[in-house]
Amino acid sequence: MTRLDLDALIDDPATRIVVTCGAGGVGKTTTAAALGLRAAERGRKVVVLTIDPARRLAQALGLTELDNTPRAVAEVDGSNGGRLDAMMLDMKRTFDEVVLAHATPEKAEQILANPFYVALSSSFAGTQEYMAMEKLGQLHKQAERSGDWDLIVVDTPPSRSALDFLDAPERLASLLEGRFLRLLLAPARGPLRLMSAGVNLAMSVMNKVLGAQVLTDVQTFAAAFDTLFGGFRERAEQTVALLREPHTVFLVVAAPQNDALREASYFAERLREEHMPLAGVVLNRVTTTHAPELSAERSLAAAEKLEEGETSDLTAAVLRLHADRMQQVVGDNKRADRFRRGHRAIATVDVPALPDDVHDLTGLRTIGKLLVSP
Ligand SMILES: Nc1ncnc2c1ncn2[C@@H]1O[C@H](COP(=O)(O)OP(=O)(O)OP(=O)(O)O)[C@@H](O)[C@H]1O
Ligand SMILES: [Mg+2]
Repeated sequence: MTRLDLDALIDDPATRIVVTCGAGGVGKTTTAAALGLRAAERGRKVVVLTIDPARRLAQALGLTELDNTPRAVAEVDGSNGGRLDAMMLDMKRTFDEVVLAHATPEKAEQILANPFYVALSSSFAGTQEYMAMEKLGQLHKQAERSGDWDLIVVDTPPSRSALDFLDAPERLASLLEGRFLRLLLAPARGPLRLMSAGVNLAMSVMNKVLGAQVLTDVQTFAAAFDTLFGGFRERAEQTVALLREPHTVFLVVAAPQNDALREASYFAERLREEHMPLAGVVLNRVTTTHAPELSAERSLAAAEKLEEGETSDLTAAVLRLHADRMQQVVGDNKRADRFRRGHRAIATVDVPALPDDVHDLTGLRTIGKLLVSP
């Protein structure tokens, strides 16, 4: 069982991209921001791409404008020569940028105004994941070209499953070039009489279900989008390839709960299959206590004794509270240890649960320290 050494990771100039991923709500955004800040204050030129950060954290990072470009974070200690820029992903805008980069101005205008495109670009499950990757690709290119950054830390969207991030480009690409859109394209291209009876039936059913206008929108979208498809898929593939390069590492974040740990296992396994390097697993929000030597059992026994005497209600109540907390501490550590024993090759680090959520640079620095302290 190895301890994850995150300072060694962020200090290594060969580390150029860190992707934080994991199940919903485990602390991906917090970890990405904390690690980015720490790396910057240790001398790296960092850009952090956050996705849906909590409002207060966004404010602390100066992310008040949603303009889809990184901005310098104020109050970062740059005495070691580092800097921190941060941005918040604007999914729709990123999609628009892709369209604009690949289609002629006229086609682009058609696509951007299409209602089906508007819906797809702002709400399709997986668009956010795909656009996060797209943005990562853009930032990487910019970093190579301008030398503005030597480390990119990428947060991933709050998905139900951590695997969504890896599956999204493929899912979106297959939706866009898949049978569904092909089918809709057909009548726009060829004479209707060439369509089989089955397709005709399908079209008329869809017409009824979706309404004629929607169908027309989808058809025009598909016809316009079709021409830019080569570029789109190629780009998706390039970005996924970026994730396979040796300078990219994944950091899986998990809470010490069974479902989050299971998710972390799946993810680690998947990364191995995909030949994507896993730096390690951050076990975040592990419950701690000030009095680890006083067990839940002893604490409860003492409370019962006091309650028999009916003299010290308050002390008994405190002992009961401590017993509850100790059960949580023991449970969290048991689950974390089980994970470690089951994944001996994976480096891990435990980060305790802070009493308050993490919403400013001070909080991020604290998490940064906890990420590296034994
Ligand atoms: N170690 C910690 N101690 C206390 N609070 C924490 C800790 N880590 C994260 N939090 C808090 O937990 C909440 C969720 O964290 P965060 O937003 O980073 O999770 P996430 O994985 O990005 O969630 P989502 O899947 O919704 O994107 C935030 O309010 C954050 O401040
Ligand atoms: Mg998040």
